[in-house]
Amino acid sequence: MSVHIGAQPGDIAETVLLPGDPLRAKWIAETFLDDPFCYNEIRGMLGYTGTYKNKRVSVQGTGMGIPSALIYCHELINHYGVKNLIRVGSAGSYQEDIHIRDIVIAMAASSTSGINNTRFINADYSPTASFDLFMKATRYAMDHNIPIKAGNVLSSDEFYEDDPDSYKHWADYGVLCVEMETAGLYTIAAKFNVEALTILTISDSLVTGERTLPEERETTFSKMIKLALGIL
Ligand code: ADE
Repeated sequence: MSVHIGAQPGDIAETVLLPGDPLRAKWIAETFLDDPFCYNEIRGMLGYTGTYKNKRVSVQGTGMGIPSALIYCHELINHYGVKNLIRVGSAGSYQEDIHIRDIVIAMAASSTSGINNTRFINADYSPTASFDLFMKATRYAMDHNIPIKAGNVLSSDEFYEDDPDSYKHWADYGVLCVEMETAGLYTIAAKFNVEALTILTISDSLVTGERTLPEERETTFSKMIKLALGIL
């Protein structure tokens, strides 16, 4: 086992879906995978492995924010040999034409997080999606008539901002939506030479103030999970 994941060698598949919410990991495993087993309960950050169309896949909760997500991603890559990391999360829209329930694929991630300032002093690194996973996801979406949008997202360190209009600056520069993990995920995937992709469902809009209702979140999430599993 590693420090935060209590799995045995071989328990975790080469491809892992990464929801922030550990209970979402349980729901994904129980709803979409055959023969799922739970390999991690440390800190309640549930992780499961099962099969989807006879291919092994794992689902691991990451918690919220880059520091938490990077602990799990680091251990998955370096202790368990994970090669494909696919974040499946929610995001807040920054654009008028990105509506609640839309699916957004993060081609790149800007950030308010300090993590890359300490890695790249006096320079900016551009965390970017895996081209291979991005192509697979967009092809699957086109073949199955799943509408998607793709572009730059913001990985913020704060869910609650002082200034409710601060999103407009990012929106002016074409950033599609805000979430809290992708810039970290894409950076360490590059460092350790593995593939990473983030697929997001829009749960709220900073432009209109709309939000999806808790009871419809499972249905809207299902579309995204099918897309993520379609990459397999
Ligand atoms: N995830 C979903 N909605 C979000 C928001 N408004 N800000 C940050 N992360 C989010």
